[in-house]
Amino acid sequence: MTKKAAGVPVTLSLDPQSSLTLQRQLYDGLRTAILAGRLRPGRRLPSTRSLAEDLALSRNTVAAAFGQLIAEGYAEARVGAGTTVARTLPEDLRKVTAGLVPPVARFRPRISRRGATLAGARVTAGFTTLRPFRPGWPALDHVPLELWSRLAARTGRRIGRSLLGYGELGGYRPLRKAIAEYLAVSRGVRCTEEQVIVTSGSQQGLFVASQVLLDPGDRVWIEDPAYPGTRSALQAAGARLVPIPVDLEGFDVRFAETRAAARLVAVAPSHQYPLGVTMTLARRLELLRLARRMRAWVLEDDYDSEFRYSSRPIAALQGLDHDGRVIYLGTFSKTLFPSLRLGYAVVPVELVGPFTAARSVLDIHSPLFEQAVLTEFIAGGYFERHLRRMRSLYEERQQTLVAEAERCLSGLLELTPARAGLQCVGWLAPDLDERAVTRAAAAHDVEVTPISAFAVRRLARSGLMLSFGAFEPNQIRAGVRRLAEALEDVRAGRRPARLGA
Ligand SMILES: Cc1ncc(COP(=O)(O)O)c(C=O)c1O
Repeated sequence: MTKKAAGVPVTLSLDPQSSLTLQRQLYDGLRTAILAGRLRPGRRLPSTRSLAEDLALSRNTVAAAFGQLIAEGYAEARVGAGTTVARTLPEDLRKVTAGLVPPVARFRPRISRRGATLAGARVTAGFTTLRPFRPGWPALDHVPLELWSRLAARTGRRIGRSLLGYGELGGYRPLRKAIAEYLAVSRGVRCTEEQVIVTSGSQQGLFVASQVLLDPGDRVWIEDPAYPGTRSALQAAGARLVPIPVDLEGFDVRFAETRAAARLVAVAPSHQYPLGVTMTLARRLELLRLARRMRAWVLEDDYDSEFRYSSRPIAALQGLDHDGRVIYLGTFSKTLFPSLRLGYAVVPVELVGPFTAARSVLDIHSPLFEQAVLTEFIAGGYFERHLRRMRSLYEERQQTLVAEAERCLSGLLELTPARAGLQCVGWLAPDLDERAVTRAAAAHDVEVTPISAFAVRRLARSGLMLSFGAFEPNQIRAGVRRLAEALEDVRAGRRPARLGA
């Protein structure tokens, strides 16, 4: 229904059947008229009473629409002068700022050496389109968001107010307790809640541990290849990185022994990144013995330990250590969702003070509200249930990937199924160049990461990291078929076809 109101030279169409409220429709109509210049700046709008009468609306509806226009800067209310169209519209302001030229530095900007190291770090950025086989993404469409929202609402109602101030540096006490209990049962981690420090993801754990434990120039043994975030955090602390190869049993302790002693050893024993191997129990014990001999710290990134598909989980290094030298890191980024930014560091008792103090300088603590909701999620048994579901979902996704790879990629890419985690490695046939393959895959709308991108030394074989966690079986199958086309292109020396061509 279109209506004309006296005092506003515009036709407003208000439809009582629309899914939009009448208030919203009125607001939209007036805003459009203002932006189109049909209601000019400074023009007085009719009173709420007369407009309500003309349009057969309640006065409250009109007042609310005006209120929104005023709040957003499209209209102004003046005592005694009623409501007028604003002289400067928000859109004009946006145009002005868009036209502003930022000042150009008239000197050579100098940042610190540490700043330069950080600037060279490889970070995970926000991505838009998700395509197979991008690493690092769990199945976000399976996150029980409604349940999470209900728990958030309940938490807000019950204890929300008590969570608005500053809290303990180590994190929300009930969450630390829940994490300590969970880790004891599922990972054999031995700690009190005091030793659990809630972090902003495991990345912050890597950063704080590096800052607290290392002096510039300290030698650190690090797996080669390794997760770039680990390397960057260590480098930001000025560490001298000593790459140690990884074989089928994990971190090669024997090789490490031939190198100069280190102050810290950084490993991801549950699911090595990116090779996916699990460090054997024998290696874990050897590594701990060696660390004791060197008086070194061990930084254990227990990444992806929750999703194991075959064999029983091996106890965390932290639980095998009798010496208090392991700093254990974990995260909810893959078990729940990465934007939650919650993880944990379990540190030896003597390090609780230095870690929490460092945290107080960095960001004080993680948001309390999210920590409280997560506590409810764990305490209610939902976390365990979610993990069980996701484990079988990911197992099925990996099986789909393996089966389709066997069908389409034979002679091109040999997949090694992962025993844990959301990604696995495919080894390329010797005639296929990693970089050329990565480019060709991108042209076929497939995202693969060359293993060499994570390595310092030249690796014996070329391979790709393929992550299956975030993709439905049909996406996985289609992705594999497109990858096969890409690999055939490279083998035949064809230039990558442009996407969509
Ligand atoms: C091995 C490893 N460690 C740490 C992280 C950091 O994750 P977050 O900070 O989200 O917990 C990642 C992220 O993908 C990872 O792959």
